[in-house]
Amino acid sequence: MVVVLLDQTKPNKTQKNMKFFVDTANLDEIREAADMGVLDGVTTNPSLMKKVGAKDLKAHIRQICELVDGDVSAEIIATTYNEMMAEAQEVAKIHPNVVVKVPLILDGIKAIKSLTAMGIKTNCTLCFSPTQALVAAKAGATYISPFVGRLDDISTDGMDLIRSIVDIYDHYGFATQVLVASVRHPMHVVAAAEMGADVATMPLSVIKQLLRHPLTDLGLQQFLQDAEALKNM
Ligand code: E4P
Repeated sequence: MVVVLLDQTKPNKTQKNMKFFVDTANLDEIREAADMGVLDGVTTNPSLMKKVGAKDLKAHIRQICELVDGDVSAEIIATTYNEMMAEAQEVAKIHPNVVVKVPLILDGIKAIKSLTAMGIKTNCTLCFSPTQALVAAKAGATYISPFVGRLDDISTDGMDLIRSIVDIYDHYGFATQVLVASVRHPMHVVAAAEMGADVATMPLSVIKQLLRHPLTDLGLQQFLQDAEALKNM
């Protein structure tokens, strides 16, 4: 028997693959996104947990980790260094794919530095400026989460922040991955990809919107009609 191995690797400029995360704590939505085959992870926050009534964070995050083979961000609610460290270590124990989401405050930065030294992955959340992103990268955060939609909401171009962070990180070769958060529509994702952001986390509705085009639907309809007509020729 001859086995042909296809080399599907296609060399590109950076060899970097943009990741898609779904931004929800809803298990059905996560399952649906995972079924599409293009999901790389999940982000949650206390508001998303509240939306689905998930009072037991550990049990809920564990269920999410069973649905998705990728990083799952679980946010801690402590706001002082010692309490953050204790909570983060508990959360990290839930599953090897758990990324501890830490708010971008002084004690959070200190906690990220310590957690990184311990080998625990972190997602530094609530980032709204390049200086905040720079500090988070210096502390060794695995991900930085700039919230683009919330900046747009206050008449500030959220994607400008992404451009700035990507430039700064590239300049110094920081390993921190830029996770575009608070995504509201497909154009946020297009801009993020053009800028070379590492990850976009988005609601399931936006993931679905990414592949929709009316000309695809019309074209397919025509092809199917013609294929049917061909059978009777
Ligand atoms: C993700 O990590 C964030 O918590 C989330 O994207 C925030 O989105 P929102 O601004 O729509 O609440």
